Amino acid sequence: MNLDAMTQTARALVAPGKGILAADESGPTIAKRLAGIGVESTEQTRQAYREILFTTAGIGDAISGVILFDETLRQQAADGTPFPEVLRRRDVIPGIKVDGGTKPLAGFPDEVITEGLDGLRDRLTEYAALGARFAKWRAVLRIGDGCPTTTCIEAHAHALARYAALAQEAGLVPIVEPEVLMDGSHDIARCAEVTVMTLRAVYAELARHRVVLEATLLKPNMVLPGKDCPVQVSDDEIADATVAALRQTVPAAVPGIVFLSGGQTDEQATSRLDALNRRGPQPWELSFSFGRALQAPVLKAWAGDDGNRAAAQAALLHRAHLNGAARHGMYTADMEGVRV
Ligand code: 13P
Repeated sequence: MNLDAMTQTARALVAPGKGILAADESGPTIAKRLAGIGVESTEQTRQAYREILFTTAGIGDAISGVILFDETLRQQAADGTPFPEVLRRRDVIPGIKVDGGTKPLAGFPDEVITEGLDGLRDRLTEYAALGARFAKWRAVLRIGDGCPTTTCIEAHAHALARYAALAQEAGLVPIVEPEVLMDGSHDIARCAEVTVMTLRAVYAELARHRVVLEATLLKPNMVLPGKDCPVQVSDDEIADATVAALRQTVPAAVPGIVFLSGGQTDEQATSRLDALNRRGPQPWELSFSFGRALQAPVLKAWAGDDGNRAAAQAALLHRAHLNGAARHGMYTADMEGVRV
């Protein structure tokens, strides 16, 4: 375990003005995204789409790291360069999703647990050899009647801590991702309560498992009202509630918090990240690790047609730069129409 190198990597991932691109969709999820633009998901189309993302000129100016899926970590660009090397040459740090996705939590029909701890030590060693420098594990918590239960929160916290300790043992910076979903009709106060409960449990377990917080990143949800809640609130209220929840729970030793977008539109995610960064200095960097909120405009521009490659890459760069501006609290909606 080289803690200095891992701590440096964690800090580089949240360098000012930059953030992470989550391109680690599993087979079924990428199939859904590609189906949305009328493209069949095959190994070839997945490679072609991800090559467009990773070979974007200037990507390293606004993207610090990319989270890859197992298949993608092993794929190459058309010229034979392995994807991790394609990224490194552009000053982008390759990372890897290491969880095995969610399965129903036995005995708790409305809740899920994340699988993938068995064999994880060996997979992490292999991923490090393939060039990954950081890892991600996603826990999913749903708000509903009687949900999430303490059992579910504790099971996720335990799995996240086991994963994070193993990742550090292999020299990979663990991104710890407890996602409280925005599905449902709950209000923002309930999301805040569940987010605080979850983060408390997660940091207690990380401490028990001797995870070195300086060499980790947190990837949480923003504190939002449920998608179907009749009372929607302003970006400033969201930023206040989110900062309050994080300040109560996330130790100052954590170098950065990289939000997921979780189904917000790309403009909402950027605007709220901006509001978060306008709240003044915090103990940690407040950055992004967006999947959908970075890729939605790219998929739309590409539409499976190689002739649209340049337009797709321009869309990625534009979105990444807008999020980079939001990291400084300098994003405004009128920048949406202005291409850099
Ligand atoms: P979204 O930003 O689309 O929520 O994806 C981020 C992610 O990596 C979820 O695990």
